[in-house]
Amino acid sequence: MNKASLIVAASENGVIGNSGDLPWRLSADLKRFKQLTMGHAMIMGRKTFESIGRLLPGRTTIIVTRQTGYEFPGALIAGNVSQAIEMSGIDEHPFITGGAEIYRVALPLVEKIYLTRVHVDIDGDTYLGGIDWTQWKRVESEPHFADDRNQYDFTFESYVRITA
Ligand SMILES: NC(=O)c1ccc[n+]([C@@H]2O[C@H](COP(=O)([O-])OP(=O)(O)OC[C@H]3O[C@@H](n4cnc5c(N)ncnc54)[C@H](OP(=O)(O)O)[C@@H]3O)[C@@H](O)[C@H]2O)c1
Repeated sequence: MNKASLIVAASENGVIGNSGDLPWRLSADLKRFKQLTMGHAMIMGRKTFESIGRLLPGRTTIIVTRQTGYEFPGALIAGNVSQAIEMSGIDEHPFITGGAEIYRVALPLVEKIYLTRVHVDIDGDTYLGGIDWTQWKRVESEPHFADDRNQYDFTFESYVRITA
């Protein structure tokens, strides 16, 4: 199976979403997301896809849903995350791009996590859960300060799975 990575932005208290959207404005994070995912497959839950509402250029969108007959022109549809990873075909580095439900089921299948830690405690209705960070080694940590295009301080981090 291809080596999938998970990419997520989460607040200090684990929030990743609110009312179907991102709870912050962080232009640098959107830029990093674009750079990392460009040319690759993005595997996302149906709700995350609908919150984006369109295909992102230069990338293959694979939507995970339990609905039969779900379609969106130009997107691939998968019935579960394993099938979605298989559908990413020759792409050796597909990305799991959320949301919370898809992160949870995809976690055992990924070998790298790109995390943007947003340095704020914030209200939200969707949380990143189920990651045992003792099983992951941090290999990147790049802090940034808030500015007029980035609402909060944040740190770009990446983690690789610790293998026994
Ligand atoms: N901060 C970040 O990095 C980040 C990234 C992505 C999303 N988000 C936020 O996260 C929120 C959305 O996350 P969410 O957890 O509510 O929804 P989600 O994971 O995007 O989508 C959930 C949907 O995926 C499908 N699904 C889930 N598990 C499945 C399985 N095992 N097999 C087949 N299909 C499955 C179902 O679709 P059907 O109902 O169609 O069957 C389910 O309703 C939004 O607020 C969004 O902005 C944040």
